[in-house]
Amino acid sequence: PPPVRIAPSILSADFAALGQEVRAIEAAGADWVHIDVMDGHYVPNLTIGPAVVKALRPHSALPFDVHLMISPVDGFLDAFAAAGADIITVHPEAGPHIHRSVQHIRSLGKKAGVSLNPATPANILDYLIDDVDLVLVMSVNPGFGGQSFIASQLRKIEAIRKMIDKSGRDIRLEVDGGIDADTAPLAIAAGADVLVAGTATFKGGPDAYAGNIRRLRGA
Ligand code: DX5
Ligand code: ZN
Repeated sequence: PPPVRIAPSILSADFAALGQEVRAIEAAGADWVHIDVMDGHYVPNLTIGPAVVKALRPHSALPFDVHLMISPVDGFLDAFAAAGADIITVHPEAGPHIHRSVQHIRSLGKKAGVSLNPATPANILDYLIDDVDLVLVMSVNPGFGGQSFIASQLRKIEAIRKMIDKSGRDIRLEVDGGIDADTAPLAIAAGADVLVAGTATFKGGPDAYAGNIRRLRGA
């Protein structure tokens, strides 16, 4: 099986010490930094914008995995690319033309992701799979950390794993929401190869991060 990447969501980090937190998770073995961007409109919560992504950029060499939960999203793609995002993921429900958004992200030289909410079917990918670098399956409704894993998403992950394998393309399959040491093995068995984890990474403070990340890997 492919190696599993761990992408801590800094939504659960100490916002007063974000630079330090990003350095700490890198030292603790994280593979990517997952950055949740929320606008209070597409989702009922507000987080951070491109200025914070830019400020964090010098603190880490890890890929910045920027998950945009904002609508309309297209007007912000250039700003997040310029701020230092490596992967930019958008929701099909958050704009009128998801294919155009994906094309735009790739035209900026960034990897493009598409994120599916719990009730969004896998077949929305039928005419996107040839143009994306990542599929993000939301295993909670977007907006907040600390929610419980929605088990029905496992069969969606299985279905998307098949689509990806059939495509023959190099596409990451990421799962986001309610991932902990109990749900991580289920998501991996279903075919996920990137695990986002906020609560499960940051609980216990910096001394616990390395052990938390190891447990997510199943080691
Ligand atoms: C939810 C975000 C997730 C969330 C994950 O909208 O996309 O990244 O922060 O948090 P946990 O791991 O606590 O469920
Ligand atoms: Zn996220």
